[in-house]
Amino acid sequence: MLKIVLISFTFILLTPTTCGIFSDEISFLVLSQKNKYHLGVAKQLKHTIIEQSLNLDDGTKPNIYLANEVFKKGNSWAIIPILIDIRNQLITSRTKWFVLCETNSVINFKKLLSSLSAEDETKEVYMGYSLYDREATIIHHFAFFRNPQQFHFPYIRAGVAFSIPLLNRLANHLSLLSQQPKMLTDFTIDAAHELALFIWNVDKNLVLKSVPYFCSRFGLECAIYAKEENIFCGNAISLDKVLFAVKTCGKYHKERLPFIQKTWARFTIHLRFFSDIYDSTIPTVPTGVENTERGHCEKSLKILRLILNEISKNSTLKNIEFIVLADDDTLLSISSLSEYLGCFDKKEYMFLGERYGYNLFSDGYSYITGGAGIVFNTKTIKKIVDSCSCSSISSPDDMIIASCLKQLNIEAIHSSLFHQARFRDYSPEILERSSISFHKFWQIDPFEVYENWFRKKDEEYFKINKHILSDYKYIKQNCMTPSSVKNKQKQKSNQINSNHIEL
Ligand SMILES: *[C@@H]1O[C@H](CO)[C@@H](O)[C@H](O)[C@H]1NC(C)=O
Repeated sequence: MLKIVLISFTFILLTPTTCGIFSDEISFLVLSQKNKYHLGVAKQLKHTIIEQSLNLDDGTKPNIYLANEVFKKGNSWAIIPILIDIRNQLITSRTKWFVLCETNSVINFKKLLSSLSAEDETKEVYMGYSLYDREATIIHHFAFFRNPQQFHFPYIRAGVAFSIPLLNRLANHLSLLSQQPKMLTDFTIDAAHELALFIWNVDKNLVLKSVPYFCSRFGLECAIYAKEENIFCGNAISLDKVLFAVKTCGKYHKERLPFIQKTWARFTIHLRFFSDIYDSTIPTVPTGVENTERGHCEKSLKILRLILNEISKNSTLKNIEFIVLADDDTLLSISSLSEYLGCFDKKEYMFLGERYGYNLFSDGYSYITGGAGIVFNTKTIKKIVDSCSCSSISSPDDMIIASCLKQLNIEAIHSSLFHQARFRDYSPEILERSSISFHKFWQIDPFEVYENWFRKKDEEYFKINKHILSDYKYIKQNCMTPSSVKNKQKQKSNQINSNHIEL
């Protein structure tokens, strides 16, 4: 009798409640980041998966790993460099599926278990939501330019599941390859595309299996769906705290700057155009550094030095907390940016934008790519100006700054809201409504892009912020003495604090 009870008890305990898969037969890797804001979102996601698994009551727990906690090198976002470690460290003898997702993935755990139980885990296979290029794009090195739509790659935020036989094969292949490091690419731009291409190069039969339960947006059928990044955390940063620095040069003053001036520049309070030459019609701030075709390292460092110097002297800049370094063909949403900046912890260093990687298989680093706009806080700029130098005048500025910051242990913060390329260069599914930037004026009408993506929200936002601007005009017109400016500043900052902006 006792035996029967025991047996049935064990039976109940060990039967997956709904489907042929136990919670612990899944390993998750959440591509988290170590800054407080993104880490908080990642921990929340982990928590919701654990809660759901407790409700399932199958007596086991899923393995959930946060990338920034497991992989300290900061290259995990590129995925291929950590494939061997994934196989060696994140897979147990019980794991049937390895699931990759992002902090902005939303997971229905029960549905995930039942969906995956219908798949064959003994095959070499990976499943996800299929993205493809509408036209050949620079972010994928113009891959498959004759027929870009043929190649499919996963939307990681919608979830990707790998069978263990596939992971083993990839890891084994990679161990062979890494003995000839030349075989691996230097630059990482779009990790999902590069991963799919890598897998396809291992075996042309290994193509992404598109499944309906991994979704690019909410749906009842979704086991995982992609959610847009939350950009408003309760307090937007007022625009008098942000200084916008545009890098330009003589030959683009007439060609490009009018687009900037007539679009997002209208909504800034502190704006500087840094150029190789002085031009009173803009006006520009000359950097005293000759223009180089590419690179701009010396110029960018000089700009950061000039900015720090001006902040220390010009009392109207006393509130500045953030510096946005943009190209003369970068389009920005001032409103989305100022909301988003409010999400980050002021005490942390900030080096924010779209992350690319250089040499992530060995000793490389992630960098924030310049065209999409780089946001620093003043603390970070001080650190750069004190510690970094250019190896040559035309070294790539964004990369040198990043490699220097890496030595200072300051990690790039990635946001999918910033874009190094034009909106046309991305699959429409991944473009978020609250995007902050697009780059390049090539074969597009910048006015139209600004109109379609940013104008309306910027205008509305600015109406609410207007008192800040008029306050500055007042200070300027009255040519105040430094001490009265100080008082005025104090009044104003009180006013800003009490004037909580919500959209
Ligand atoms: C100080 O900063 C304000 C606001 O950006 C600007 O309008 C003004 O021209 C600056 N003053 C000087 C002397 O550069």
